Amino acid sequence: MKFKAPKGTNDILPARSGLWQQVEHTIRETAALYGYGEIRTPAFESVELFKRSVGEETDIVNKEMYTFSDRAGRVMALRPEGTAPVVRAYLQHRIGSVASETRLFYLGPMFRYERPQKGRYRQFNQFGVEFLGSEFPEADVEVISLICTIYDRLGLSDTHLKLNSVGCPKCRPAYHDSLAAHLNEIAARLCADCASRAVKNPLRVFDCKNSGCREMLNDAPRIIEALCSGCSTHYHDVKSLLDTLAIPFIEDAGLVRGLDYYTRTAFEIIHGDLGAQDAVGGGGRYDGLVQEFGGPVVPAVGYAGGMERLIILLSQKIAEFAKDTRAACYIATASPDDWAMVLPVAHALRQAGIETITDNRRRSMKSQMKTAGKLGVRAVVILGLEECETGTCILRNMISKSQQTVRLEDLHRLVRTVMEDLA
Ligand code: HAM
Repeated sequence: MKFKAPKGTNDILPARSGLWQQVEHTIRETAALYGYGEIRTPAFESVELFKRSVGEETDIVNKEMYTFSDRAGRVMALRPEGTAPVVRAYLQHRIGSVASETRLFYLGPMFRYERPQKGRYRQFNQFGVEFLGSEFPEADVEVISLICTIYDRLGLSDTHLKLNSVGCPKCRPAYHDSLAAHLNEIAARLCADCASRAVKNPLRVFDCKNSGCREMLNDAPRIIEALCSGCSTHYHDVKSLLDTLAIPFIEDAGLVRGLDYYTRTAFEIIHGDLGAQDAVGGGGRYDGLVQEFGGPVVPAVGYAGGMERLIILLSQKIAEFAKDTRAACYIATASPDDWAMVLPVAHALRQAGIETITDNRRRSMKSQMKTAGKLGVRAVVILGLEECETGTCILRNMISKSQQTVRLEDLHRLVRTVMEDLA
């Protein structure tokens, strides 16, 4: 074979696409239940958009973006995430001027040049929800409640919600200084990446997977202990609202997320069965992002979940979710010479809403019946020149193996009867 899908990408074949469709359907339905409208943004944007939002010093921007220059020399990036494009669209189309609260959701592919492994790909799909226009903890908890409802409705159990607050521009600078001072003391023992993060973006050290670094960071000051009173009250209120809704959570002072736009609430949903890539999804508040893009002060909160990771977790349920893709009806001809009659009859059946497959290879009746058996169709319509002249055909019930001569004009009604018999 000459070609293979690029490293870190996946083909989703029909045997699995039923599960994908069901999951997408549940997401759309639940988002609608909470009043979220669907937004679809382009798969690529100006690279600056992600530099300004996700952050120049993050792995996503620094190491993982697929960038290219278009023919006019503009530097573009395949979107590595969906929040920055949504905020760009929010401002571009003045969505906030229609209503002061904006609720949006999206589904689609994202691109990151990462080292592929189970649950980590270079093209992957996310579903995301973004709530723009409220600084209050009710908005954070609405988003969390929405995604928990999606996972609940999909029957996903054993998930854990991890929660933290990463502060705001008021309390973060002083915290950054104390963290940087601490990191300075242990700089010689940190890995090369952390040594560089310590200078450029200290909070990122908490993302380090190196066990030596992690151990040393045990004594590092935590942002949660340095929150200003506004952030502290917000965090407290998010927790008590989660309690009110009986949504369990685990506080994790080391949770900092891999994107720079977060303020206050940061959270992740994890699942033990995913191994090293255990985040089913993550999100948080980004109160400064709309302003960063030149807009007014619009506090916001959102979440994005990895679709492939969700599908991995739901794979045990594939039989339950698999859509029955068997066609209802197969059209066979009594003789290969009768081929011209097939398409009009198939067309009429499809117009009547009956899934129909035809033999398009002018084969013998025996071969066609063999195929019909393999396809597992419920009814076979056999067309013959003689019957057609009298406006009839043969309808065979593939379960009872009985067959009858029926009028072509009654065909769709009778095919339906055969199907109902089998239901
Ligand atoms: P993120 O944590 O970078 O957040 O990604 C969210 C989720 O996308 C991850 O938890 C994971 O499930 C999935 N994901 C990320 N990278 C990959 C990959 N390479 N392969 C497979 N799945 C992956 C964001 O993207 C933010 N935009 C979330 C957000 C929305 N924050 C506020 N609003």
